[in-house]
Amino acid sequence: MTISINGSTAQVPDDLRVSLLDLLRDHLHLFGAKKGCNQGACGACSVLVDGSECSHV
Ligand code: FES
Repeated sequence: MTISINGSTAQVPDDLRVSLLDLLRDHLHLFGAKKGCNQGACGACSVLVDGSECSHV
């Protein structure tokens, strides 16, 4: 699977079963989104997906 992030494309395995946050941080080494409460309450993990805010990713 190919995803586009910040104008660049990245290949990720089709069967990678991780959250978007863990994909960004652990696999693509993009550390802008933070792991905070891990419960959807703080917004630390918020990212924009197609221009819309998405949290608890
Ligand atoms: S880590 Fe708190 S909302 Fe995602």
